[in-house]
Amino acid sequence: MLPITWTARARRAALCQHMPPAISRPGTASRPSKRRLHTKPPNYSSVEAAPAAVQAHHESGRGMRAIDDIMARRARAGKLVAGIAAASDSDMFKGSTEGMPKAKRWDNHLSRESKAREPCTLKQAARHLKKPGLISLGGGLPSSEVFPFAELGMKVPRPPHFSEAETLESGQTVKVGKYDVRDGRGDAVYDLSIALNYGQSTGSAQMMRFLTEHTEVICRPPYADWRVCQTVGSTGALEQALRMFLDRDRGDSILTEEFSFSTALETVAPLGIRAFGVRIDQQGLVPEAMDEMLSSWNPAERGGARKPHVLYTVPSGQNPTGATQGAERRRAIYRVAQKHDLFILEDEPYYFLQMQPYREGAATPPSPPANVEEFVSSLVPSLVSMDVDGRVMRMDSLSKVLVPGSRLGWITASEQIVERYQRHAEVASQGPSGFSQVILHKLLDETWGHEGYLQWLMNLGVEYTRKRDRLLAACEEHLPRDLVSWTPPAAGMFMWLTVDHAQHPEAGKRDIKDIEEEIFNSCIDNGVLVARGSWFLTEKDRPLPGLYFRTTFASASAENMSEAISRFGRAVRDSFGRK
Ligand SMILES: Cc1ncc(COP(=O)(O)O)c(C=O)c1O
Repeated sequence: MLPITWTARARRAALCQHMPPAISRPGTASRPSKRRLHTKPPNYSSVEAAPAAVQAHHESGRGMRAIDDIMARRARAGKLVAGIAAASDSDMFKGSTEGMPKAKRWDNHLSRESKAREPCTLKQAARHLKKPGLISLGGGLPSSEVFPFAELGMKVPRPPHFSEAETLESGQTVKVGKYDVRDGRGDAVYDLSIALNYGQSTGSAQMMRFLTEHTEVICRPPYADWRVCQTVGSTGALEQALRMFLDRDRGDSILTEEFSFSTALETVAPLGIRAFGVRIDQQGLVPEAMDEMLSSWNPAERGGARKPHVLYTVPSGQNPTGATQGAERRRAIYRVAQKHDLFILEDEPYYFLQMQPYREGAATPPSPPANVEEFVSSLVPSLVSMDVDGRVMRMDSLSKVLVPGSRLGWITASEQIVERYQRHAEVASQGPSGFSQVILHKLLDETWGHEGYLQWLMNLGVEYTRKRDRLLAACEEHLPRDLVSWTPPAAGMFMWLTVDHAQHPEAGKRDIKDIEEEIFNSCIDNGVLVARGSWFLTEKDRPLPGLYFRTTFASASAENMSEAISRFGRAVRDSFGRK
C-alpha cells in the first residue's frame, strides 16, 4: 500500500516492484514506460487505489486514438484495486506528462478561509486501514453487512441505439451486487459494499479513473500537474470555488458576463462579494471590454472593490444568452486573463451540447459528425485546454448530459487548487453519493466505455440540434421580425430574444423593466412562461441595457414549442400596441 504523501519518485520506485506483463491491444503499439505499472493483490480493506496509469508519454491523439491508448494503458496496469475509502488522484490514471511545465501557484489569489483549511483528521486516519491484520475500532464506517441493498439493476441503452423505444425493446440490463469484487464476479472493480460506505471527498478511485481519462480525451490541459476531483454538481462546486478565491475582508470582487447565471449571482452576493458585468456580444464575453475595464479599474468608482482577480464565465451555450465563445474568442479571453492575472472559473455544463450550424430555410440540417473522432475534433477547445499557466478551474456536470439528479460532476484544475478544493469538500459534501457513483460507473465505464459515452454525447448534440431548430422555426413563424431578434445558439439549451424597446409607444417615458414586467405578466396570462432578462443582470443597481427574454428549447414538444412562441409573440404585440 502506498501512502498518498509519498513523493512521485518514491511511488515510482515502489511501483517498479510489481510489474504486470505489458499487454497491448491489436494495432496499438506498447511503448516503453519509465513509470512502471502496478497490479495490487486483492485487499478489500485497501484505502488507496492501485495506480493504474503510468505511461511515459503524453499521447497526442484525440477521439478513438486517445481511447485506444487509454485502454492499452489500462491493460498494462492490470486490474484496478480500490477498496472502501481508497484514496486516489488523477496522477494514478493519466498518461505521462513528462517534460511539461507545472502550473503556477495561486497563493495570492486564495482566500484566508481556504488557506486556513487543514486535512480532515478522520479521513487521514482512514489511511491506517491498509495495515494487514489491523482491527479498526477507530473509524465510524458501518459494516456493509447491515446495508439493506444486496443488488441494484437497471436497464440502459445499448450504443448507438439510444432512443427510449430502443432502450425498452433492446436495452441492456446491468446489475451490481454487494460483494461483486470480493466474490470475483466478472471483472468487477466496484460494488455496493465499497460504493455505499464512506469514501474520500475526491469521490471513488473507480470514477476518478474514468473521469481523468475522459478529461484527457477531451481537454488535455497543457501542464503537468492537472487533476480532477469529483463534485456534487457545479452548483456546489462553484460555491466552494468562490469561497476558495474570494475574501470580503480583502474587498474582493469578481467579473462575469453582463448577464450571468442567476444562481451563480445569488451565490456570490451573500458572500459580500461584488460581481461586475463585462460587455457581451453574439459570442459572449468581449475580451477588449474586459481588458479596458481592468486596465482602468478605480476602486473609488467601484464602491471600494479592488481590481478583480477572478473571472466566472460560461463559455458554451451561456446561461442565459445562449452565446458560445469561439476558439479565437477563448484565446483572446485567456490572454487578457494572463495580462491581468485573473483566475478563471470555467463553468461548462453545456459544453457537450454543441450543435450543428443553423441554416434558415434549409430543407435539411448539415450532417452531424460521422463518428466519435469527428465529434471530438468538432468541439470548441475548452479554456482549460489552452491553460498553460494552470489558471483555469473547469467545472463539468453530468446534469445536462445524463441526469440532473445524479448530483455528480467534476472539476479540472492544478494540483494545488484541487487539493484546496478537496480540503473544503471533506468538511462540506464529502463528495458525491455512492449510489450515483456506482450507477454511473456501471453505465459509463463498464457498459458503454469511453467510446459509447462519446456516442451518447454525439447523439445528444443531434437531439438538441433538432429541438433548437424547432424553436427557431416557431420564432420565424410567430414573432414580428422587426421587433424581436435572436442569434441561433451554437450550444446549450437557451435562446435569448431581444425586443427592440425603442419602438415601444412609451419608450423613453417608461422604465424598460416596467415594460419587461408587463410582457412577462401578459405571457403568464396567455399561458407561457419565459424568463425575464432582468433576472440575470449582473449589476442589479444598473439600469437594464435592453429588453430581453430567455427561452429554452430543452423541454417542450414541437407542438407546444410553436404554441408557446405564438403566445409570447402575442404578449409582445399587445404591449407594443400591434395587431
Ligand atoms: C451555467 C450553469 N452552471 C451550473 C448549473 C447547475 O449545474 P449542476 O446541476 O451540476 O449543479 C447550471 C444549471 O442550470 C447552469 O446553467
